[in-house]
Amino acid sequence: MQIQENKSVQLADGGTIQLKKIDYVEFYVGNAQQAAHFYCKSFGFRLIAYAGLETGVRDRCSFVLEQSHIRFVFTSPLTPYGSIAEYVKLHGDGVHDIALLVDDTRTCFNIAVARGAKPILAPTLLKGENGSILKATIAGYSGDLTHSFIERHKYTEFSPQYHLLDNLPQCTKNNLIEIDHIVLNVESGKMNLWADFYRTVLDFKQQQEFTSDDISTQYSSLMSKVVENNTGRIKFPINEPAEGYRKSQIQEYLDFHCGPGVQHIALRTNDIIQTVRQLRHNGIEFLETPDSYYDNLPKYISPIDEDINILKELNILLDRDEQGYLLQIFTKPLVTRPTFFLEIIQRKGAQGFGNGNFKALFEAIEREQASRGNL
Ligand code: FE2
Repeated sequence: MQIQENKSVQLADGGTIQLKKIDYVEFYVGNAQQAAHFYCKSFGFRLIAYAGLETGVRDRCSFVLEQSHIRFVFTSPLTPYGSIAEYVKLHGDGVHDIALLVDDTRTCFNIAVARGAKPILAPTLLKGENGSILKATIAGYSGDLTHSFIERHKYTEFSPQYHLLDNLPQCTKNNLIEIDHIVLNVESGKMNLWADFYRTVLDFKQQQEFTSDDISTQYSSLMSKVVENNTGRIKFPINEPAEGYRKSQIQEYLDFHCGPGVQHIALRTNDIIQTVRQLRHNGIEFLETPDSYYDNLPKYISPIDEDINILKELNILLDRDEQGYLLQIFTKPLVTRPTFFLEIIQRKGAQGFGNGNFKALFEAIEREQASRGNL
């Protein structure tokens, strides 16, 4: 049951937006059934809920996948008309909504709209047998990436519109625990506007900034700003392309995604060696790192707990900051266009994003870009 509140939006002139964590990420894709199957079989997700014709939803079908604290929703249109079909036609498969868990949807929505966010869905009560959800949605800086506010009242299931699925076959989990960060690629000159949107509308703060001097190779470069919410649990690095000798990888993304959007989602594990072994066994392809990377690792990286030869065998990258170190690896694009991919990350104290690896990562991405004729 769905009840949209008719109250006019009250302008809130004070208060702050309190976000708890990412509740789910919704992808719009051409074939949600096959995308769900892929993420279950390859990444160890479990299908927990479904919405579609059988549940009274006439215009779309959605598959909800879960692993530990990570929840992905894959949605496809059932007709050639409407916003989902338009999204897929323009962007290909990609992230449409990053939904945020809150204690008070109404307040978050009213404050965000009063601060200039475009309203997409006014606070709407979704009532189920065991509780209810209050949902509202605003456009992000770009309208094709939205943020929903999700307030759960004694409601632990996904959503009343969805049917829970029982007695599902278990797939092999991959020790993926939660979303570490989500990276956005935006057009040249737009990084500060996006960072300002998150700061002024959603009360994020800026954590780090990297200039094109920090992140460049012989051919191309980018600039990056990291914004995070006040608890530090939600982190969005924002990249824009910078002038280089050849086309930036960010520009390649923008050209094929046809606009700004989510470049990658980093998923955290507590055992990256086991996770990457399992993912490789499942057929997932990762960016390759040259052996010279491991031979030339700076002295400050050690000591580490892991055997460097195993990291080299699996192509896992390393970086260190004042608080510790991190291990990370990037998949090749997971969709038809050279756009969206996943990162697997394990943190051993380090709070950064592997900026020491940008160069190695860039060079690996550029080899892929060159193979596609886009460098
Ligand atoms: Fe990342």
